[in-house]
Amino acid sequence: MAHILMKFGGGLITTKSQMKTVDRDAITKLSQIVSELSRLDHKVTIVHGAGSFGHLKAKQWNIANGAQEDIIEQQKEAVISIREDMLELNTEVCKSFSNHNIECQSFPPSDWASEVGADFVGDLSPIENSSEDVVPITFGDVVDCSPPKLFGILSGDDLMVRIGKEIPGITHCIFLLGDTEGLLSAPPSNPNASLIPMWSKEQEVSGEHDTSQDVTGGIFLKLESASIISKVVPNVWFIDGRKPERVLELLTTGTTRGTQIVQ
Ligand code: IPE
Repeated sequence: MAHILMKFGGGLITTKSQMKTVDRDAITKLSQIVSELSRLDHKVTIVHGAGSFGHLKAKQWNIANGAQEDIIEQQKEAVISIREDMLELNTEVCKSFSNHNIECQSFPPSDWASEVGADFVGDLSPIENSSEDVVPITFGDVVDCSPPKLFGILSGDDLMVRIGKEIPGITHCIFLLGDTEGLLSAPPSNPNASLIPMWSKEQEVSGEHDTSQDVTGGIFLKLESASIISKVVPNVWFIDGRKPERVLELLTTGTTRGTQIVQ
């Protein structure tokens, strides 16, 4: 039995540029795969991103950089509103899971985590100790921070690092991406970009980070996170989330189209 830790990128489950737009078809396909993995007796743990349920308002009110005296009242409202939006997105994912007979349990980080980055403060044991037939699910969120910051953005990628490192027995850690088949030799917009099938941190990357919408680290944070996880988890992959059947192929054959992250 494998234990698969999977992140649904925010760009995969939402339309990133359009405020609070879920991609129901993408979520349905993901639920089918999770259901199949559970049927095969694998344990699945899910982290999801924010996409247009988090990044746009966070960007507008500069939430990632913490409290700013001149706009603090608007920021406080935005923090409440983004947390509500994230719960709404999480509910969409959970509803789809439940339509596919997957029992899941949500762990909203604003309830149990504080501080940002992979060293965030928070007890992972409720996620670790969730019962075998339950899929624990958590997500990138706005969390409390100590003064003067007061709040910040905890990325799903940082949750992946901590869960991957600290919950024993995880065999696969998979980042499902919304707009690419894996790590490319050039940004996805470049027609000459080709898929890099295996990557270790000695290899240089030419990525791009869309700061117009993205308040967390984009592909660079993801690579750094994946590289840290690959020290402890044997199979770390970037896979095209629009083709989630590749996850099943990976589990059954040991390989698939995507980028394997190695030490
Ligand atoms: C960001 O989480 C959380 C918020 C902006 C509230 P992620 O960094 O995991 O989200 P995506 O995958 O980039 O959308």
